[in-house]
Amino acid sequence: MNATPGLLSVQGVGYRYEASEWELAGLSFEARAGEILAIIGPNGSGKSTLLRIAAGILPPRQGKVRLEGRDMESLPRREVARTLGYLPQQVQSAFDYSVEEAVSMGRFPHLAGLGFLRPEDARIVESAMRRTETLEYRARSLSRLSGGERQRVFLASVLAQEPRVLLLDEPTSALDIHHQARFFRLLRELGGTGIAVAVVTHDLNIASLYCDRLLLLSRGGAVREGNAEEVLRQETLAEVYGESVHVDRDSRTGRPIVLPGLPGGTP
Ligand SMILES: Nc1ncnc2c1ncn2[C@@H]1O[C@H](COP(=O)(O)OP(=O)(O)OP(=O)(O)O)[C@@H](O)[C@H]1O
Ligand SMILES: [Mg+2]
Repeated sequence: MNATPGLLSVQGVGYRYEASEWELAGLSFEARAGEILAIIGPNGSGKSTLLRIAAGILPPRQGKVRLEGRDMESLPRREVARTLGYLPQQVQSAFDYSVEEAVSMGRFPHLAGLGFLRPEDARIVESAMRRTETLEYRARSLSRLSGGERQRVFLASVLAQEPRVLLLDEPTSALDIHHQARFFRLLRELGGTGIAVAVVTHDLNIASLYCDRLLLLSRGGAVREGNAEEVLRQETLAEVYGESVHVDRDSRTGRPIVLPGLPGGTP
């Protein structure tokens, strides 16, 4: 229950792609200091579109995005990049950089002139690699990593940016359970230092256990926003996902756990 405006405030944004019927309609959310917001919803419900708008990549057709109270559209990109870190669902890399080079790019918005790393930048890059367990590959090229290893390198890069607002689009979709849990614990630690995080995920259980608030989207609109208890309800999820689900409880925390319905024919 925090009434203060978020570090990032998305107010009534709407969007329509060219020559498309699909519409994102009047969505709002706040990314607040110290909180992790999970954005969940079926494929095509608008999560990535919403995050691109929140990151200032797509200008909304209606509504406003404010970063620390200032209108996103009036802010120079470089200034946005010093405050806000955005990790897209699919990261494209034009060149085959080494891991260390890719992570170092996170520091660019903070560098002056020709962009040489200072000793403190090198320390931050090293710490981001350590936290994502990518330090051992530092000299390897991106093309010679597994999908999950590469995803951790991109996470390291956005962490090296040291943003106050972190927008992450399915950041752990390729990660094993150890790295997934480790990353979400790291997000909680960052939350403890006053960073605001909004993370898109299909893992409803991770959202339940690690996130403070959840925003559930369906067909370009918000269905519900609240804590796990309020959002992860059997009827709501069945309606939105069109699939029977079983909501149970995590025995350690009492939080909701979501399982798919049993396969047909199982007693
Ligand atoms: N560049 C584009 N041009 C036209 N339509 C698009 C474009 N990108 C996405 N869409 C459409 O907009 C809708 C929302 O897409 P979006 O990528 O925001 O969904 P999502 O919730 O992130 O889905 P997923 O879980 O699959 O990543 C979908 O119907 C999609 O087909
Ligand atoms: Mg998406």
